[in-house]
Amino acid sequence: MTDARIAKLYGRRVWDSRGRPTVEVEAHLADGAVGRAIAPAGASTGQGEALDLRDGGSRFGGLDVHRAVSSVNTEIAPALKEQDAADQEFIDQLLVNLDGTSDRSRLGGNAIVATSMAVLHAAAASADKPLWLHLSGGRPVRIPLPEIQIFGGGAHADRRVDVQDFMVVCPAAGSFSEALDWTAEIYRAAGSLMRKAGKTGGVADEGGFWPAFDSNEEALETLTLAIENAGFAPSAQVGISLDIAASQFGSAGKYRLALDDSALDTGALIEMLGRWIETYPILSIEDPLGEDDPEGMIEFTRRYGDRCQVIGDDFLVTNAKRVQAAAADGAANAVLIKPNQAGTVTEALAALRAGQEAGFATIVSARSGESEDVTIAHLSVGWDAGQLKVGSFTRSERMAKWNEVLRIEEALGNSAEFSGWSAFTFAGPKASTDAS
Ligand code: PGA
Ligand code: ZN
Repeated sequence: MTDARIAKLYGRRVWDSRGRPTVEVEAHLADGAVGRAIAPAGASTGQGEALDLRDGGSRFGGLDVHRAVSSVNTEIAPALKEQDAADQEFIDQLLVNLDGTSDRSRLGGNAIVATSMAVLHAAAASADKPLWLHLSGGRPVRIPLPEIQIFGGGAHADRRVDVQDFMVVCPAAGSFSEALDWTAEIYRAAGSLMRKAGKTGGVADEGGFWPAFDSNEEALETLTLAIENAGFAPSAQVGISLDIAASQFGSAGKYRLALDDSALDTGALIEMLGRWIETYPILSIEDPLGEDDPEGMIEFTRRYGDRCQVIGDDFLVTNAKRVQAAAADGAANAVLIKPNQAGTVTEALAALRAGQEAGFATIVSARSGESEDVTIAHLSVGWDAGQLKVGSFTRSERMAKWNEVLRIEEALGNSAEFSGWSAFTFAGPKASTDAS
């Protein structure tokens, strides 16, 4: 007999991939089902995100989470006791009301998102279903196109290069597992190019190469060459996906590139990115302008949105209302979905559905601070997001997610449809490959 009432819920302090404390929550239901989840943490966070509760003070740079764990154990647990874990919307609304702030700063976004995801896992266990199937309810779903980091920069590599993520996407692969195979070859090819050029500097926060490049364009050239050296056709088979994370180096229409020591206004930044789109096989660009530069986002999307995916991350902060507004303004054509940016599973799903309804592409995403938690792999499939962004192709907090999708792909068997080109909603490359 299933009985999805919450019998016991508690938080504990664990460690994330950057060696920083974070919150894990375990939910035990009356029928014995258990769910567990760990809060991730961003480094290049958007202004409108749910806020993590950190202890402050000098220990661990002020980043300890005893207060957030205590929120779970002293306030959240008693409030959720006996509640129905199968009613995720009700649970999440209860969490939002209990916190009472607009940014989750009282109980902590970290405490709340870990609770929300732990309850979700417990409900799936109670229903005796893998999480992705519990979420899809049997509706047809696609295996997502992975966006995989090769070089890390920006806030994740001491600004060694300005651009935060240099990633590849393999939409022409026949399956998710083949996309991983292709990426592994490209990662190796990039590594060997960098070693030959004496440009390796270890790994960045998400496991990509820490690039000792002298310009952003050197990274783009090297990545394009790595795609070719691995035996793939740039654009037609494998594209580049960039996260500019422009809020990290500018605001209010003034941007400063550390590498080139140049100051750019909105128009000049758009021109520069436009030149990159003309020159390199770029299929996707995230946060090309700052989060406070909607006019720039509108102009960029107007000029390049028909040939390139334009993703809002810091700009949209996984918020359904912002997604609707951006769609009305033409300020993006895709939305990144980070559960801890929204605060709860229900709010993240609302942002994703708002995107899908607006014709946006949707990308479920990890944070730069991660763990062995694989919840987002299930969300990306169960919600039919079409794309999944997890970081690089090294280090187990990243590989855990890719490997989990491989297991889901295997479980789906012949009915596993890989999203491939269908992941994108812009016209360009799909049209050109259809014609070829
Ligand atoms: P963050 O970066 O997790 O450090 O915020 C990820 C991203 O910007 O996509
Ligand atoms: Zn981003």
